[in-house]
Amino acid sequence: MTDIPLPSELQHAGSRITILTGAGLSAESGLHTFRDRGGIWEKYDLTEVATPEAFARNPAFVLDFYNQRRRANEDVKPNAAHEALAQLEREHDGVVWVVTQNIDPLHEIAGTKNLVHMHGEITKALCAECGHREDWGMADITPQSSCPACGTIGRMRPDVVWFGEMPYRMEEIFDLLAQSDLFISIGTSGTVYPAAGFVEIAREAGAWTLELNLEPSEGVSQFHHAVQGRATQTVPALVEQILRGEA
Ligand code: NAD
Ligand code: APR
Repeated sequence: MTDIPLPSELQHAGSRITILTGAGLSAESGLHTFRDRGGIWEKYDLTEVATPEAFARNPAFVLDFYNQRRRANEDVKPNAAHEALAQLEREHDGVVWVVTQNIDPLHEIAGTKNLVHMHGEITKALCAECGHREDWGMADITPQSSCPACGTIGRMRPDVVWFGEMPYRMEEIFDLLAQSDLFISIGTSGTVYPAAGFVEIAREAGAWTLELNLEPSEGVSQFHHAVQGRATQTVPALVEQILRGEA
C-alpha cells in the first residue's frame, strides 16, 4: 500500500489517535459482518433479534440468536489488523484509543487496553430485572438462567446494545473525539448512528480523518482520505507508516 498522505504534524510526539472499528475488522477472523453479502441481517430480521421489543416478545428466540453468536466467537483469533492496533497502542509515543461497535473480544485478546465497547460485549450478561452486569464468558444464556444478584429467573439477557437503545460510554467517546488529532474508521459501513456521525465530530474538533474499508462506506465523503482494501493489509501498513515516522 503506498504511504497515506498523513499531515506531518501528526508525526509529533503526543498525538492522540482515536480508532472506530466495525464488523469488517473481525471479518477476516471468520466472524460475519451485518450488511455485506451473506451478512447477519440477510439471515435474520434484526427487529426480531436485536431490539428490546423482540426480547420481550420472544426471549428464547433472541437468547438463541446470541448463543449462536457466542458459539461462533468461541474459537476465533485476532487477525493482523487487531494485532497492529495493539502494537500501535504500545509503541506510538502519544495516546491511542479504540472505540469498537463489535461485541467480540478480539481487541482484548490482541492486547488493546484503551478500549470502549459502545455496543456491549457478547461475553457479558445483563439482568433486565435489576440491572446487574455479570461476566458470562461463552456459556449460553437461557430462559432458565438466573441473576446472580437478585436471583430472578428468565430475565438474563446479553449485555449488548440493541436498536433503539443508547450505546455505552457516549460521554467518554465524545471527549475522545474532541481531543483527537487523527480519527481512523476501520471496517464499518457507516450506516448506524451514532457511530456513523463520529467522523463529523472529529473533523469539527480539528482531527485529520481516515477511512480504511473494503469498499467506500456511506460516509466516505466526510473523510479527508480513504483507502479501500482488506483490514489485514491496510491496518498493518498504516501502523508501520506511523511508527516509522516516529522512529
Ligand atoms: P439505526 O438508527 O441504525 O436504526 C433505526 C431503526 O431502523 C432501528 O430501530 C432498526 O430497527 C431499523 N433498521 C435499521 N436497519 C435495518 C434493517 N437492515 N432491516 C430492518 N430494520 C432496520 O439504529 P438505532 O435504533 O438508532 O440503534 C441505536 C443503537 O443500537 C445504535 O448504536 C446501534 O448501532 C445499536 N445496535 C446494536 C446492535 C447489536 O447487535 N449490538 C444491533 C442493532 C443496533
Ligand atoms: N476489511 C475491511 N473492511 C471490511 C472487510 C475487511 N476484510 N470485510 C468487510 N468490510 C467492510 C464492509 O465493506 C462493510 O462496509 O466492513 C463493513 C461492515 O459493515 P456492517 O456489516 O454494517 O457492520 P458495522 O458497520 O459494524 O455495523 C454497525 O450495526 O447491526 C448493528 O450493532 C450492530 O455494531 C453493528 C452496527
